[in-house]
Amino acid sequence: MNQITLTRPDDWHIHLRDGPYLKQTVADASRVFGRVLAMPNLDPPVINSLIAGQYRDKIMPFARTQFYPLFALYLTEKTTPQDIERTKIDSDFIPAYKLYPAGATTNSKFGVNSIEKMYPIFESMEANDLVLCVHGEVTDSDIDVFDREKYFIDGVLSRIIEEFPGLRIVLEHITTEDAVNFVKSTSRNVAATITAHHLLYNRNALLEGGLNPLYFCLPVLKRDIHQRALIDAATSGDPKFFLGTDSAPHPRHEKEKICGCAAGCYTAHAAIELYAEVFDKFEAITMLEGFASHFGADFYRFPRNKDTITLEKINWEVQKEIKFGNDQLVPIKAGETLNWRIKSKQ
Ligand code: NCD
Ligand code: ZN
Repeated sequence: MNQITLTRPDDWHIHLRDGPYLKQTVADASRVFGRVLAMPNLDPPVINSLIAGQYRDKIMPFARTQFYPLFALYLTEKTTPQDIERTKIDSDFIPAYKLYPAGATTNSKFGVNSIEKMYPIFESMEANDLVLCVHGEVTDSDIDVFDREKYFIDGVLSRIIEEFPGLRIVLEHITTEDAVNFVKSTSRNVAATITAHHLLYNRNALLEGGLNPLYFCLPVLKRDIHQRALIDAATSGDPKFFLGTDSAPHPRHEKEKICGCAAGCYTAHAAIELYAEVFDKFEAITMLEGFASHFGADFYRFPRNKDTITLEKINWEVQKEIKFGNDQLVPIKAGETLNWRIKSKQ
């Protein structure tokens, strides 16, 4: 198949950043996606609908028309059940809260140390039908970095699901076979996003032939059997798995540091094209539409987009570098050839 038309896709996990960075991130995201769920880990974080509304006002000038950014608010230990009730009123553009275990990832310092203390908040979210998006890694320094997702699932997530069976939960950017099997077999209120980079790469990309910061993200890339399980899940047509790029830009100088490389991969410049690359390679291009355009909207209870995009199979070269405010950004596949691109200008 050399061409495919899809319902316009949505991105259910993206970092748009702020200030001078918005010009690039928003232009890239709105080029293809109808909706994005923008993550709140700014500094200071997006903790309420007032701040989310102001953030949306900063985003819109850089967007294509008919682009609808949605927001996940940052859960902190100061969030109250009353805050949740107030957010419910704005749930048409704030359908979710994001749980960051403190210390798990970029700008998670405002996050949660004791997850059990958040149970009254989860109860209120369940009652108000707001989605809980989860960064699913424990942070204990004695747990191996490669095992942190599994420990979170077994020790933390399973208990939240048991206590709050009506709470809709998205386990974000899953990276392991364990996460795939868990999501498949647990309650229908639990789904997962999968990034393009976790489908395209395994930890060899990060470590082979010299440490490569381009591929450093959290949760970190795992071994090939996990990559394969993610590919199987994404291409399976199971509606519990849907598109969330976790496109997370950092300026070049923050990634290419000798020590302290920033975690995050930028994929918004070619997001749907990168997914198409993987789906096509595994002879599953016809499964892309459900994953990219239907299942996320269905889970979040938004209508599917009405318009379409068309992808064609043709080679093109990705930029080596992208201007990013006053900085530079190296995107995933920089300088390499991709073989799918958007056809129609929509
Ligand atoms: C994200 C970022 O940079 O904001 N980084 C990442 O490696 N994925 C945060 C996150 O989603 O964990
Ligand atoms: Zn993220």
